[in-house]
Amino acid sequence: MSIIGVGIDVAEIARFAASLERTPGMAQRLFLDSELLLPSGERRGPASLAARFAAKEALAKALGAPAGLHWTDAEVYVEDSGQPRLKVTGTVAARAAELGVRSWHVSLSHDAGVASAVVVAEG
Ligand SMILES: CC(C)(COP(=O)(O)OP(=O)(O)OC[C@H]1O[C@@H](n2cnc3c(N)ncnc32)[C@H](O)[C@@H]1OP(=O)(O)O)[C@@H](O)C(=O)NCCC(=O)NCCS
Repeated sequence: MSIIGVGIDVAEIARFAASLERTPGMAQRLFLDSELLLPSGERRGPASLAARFAAKEALAKALGAPAGLHWTDAEVYVEDSGQPRLKVTGTVAARAAELGVRSWHVSLSHDAGVASAVVVAEG
């Protein structure tokens, strides 16, 4: 086991939510339906969405933020326990494979108007 990369990001929840509301197509460009919707079918709340955005930025940093990564090639999903996990495909999986990343760790937080995420890439 070795650490290949680490990334961190923060997002102001109200500003992120306002951008999502006023920018047509932004939610679909950034997120998969499985991220936008709760298991109940209701829309996920702004703090959790901002944290998922921060996770994708943190993941990009862990990979050295190369050009050409697609937002929807990274998915934050949730274990039955509530723990978030990352799944990567396409452009993100290709870059991860280049660097020898075999598994991902992600942690999310939101409080005091700010959402944040830390990502660790393990080889
Ligand atoms: C590089 C990038 C991550 C910077 O993020 P940002 O939100 O603009 O800025 P932040 O304040 O969060 O982060 C800034 C820090 O990122 C770090 N950073 C810059 N380039 C980086 C790189 N190539 N790799 C890792 N970290 C980098 C720097 O340390 C910088 O701080 P500094 O200027 O004080 O040194 C961003 O511009 C970017 O490319 N995002 C990735 C988009 C993407 O690929 N999305 C799909 C992912 S699934």
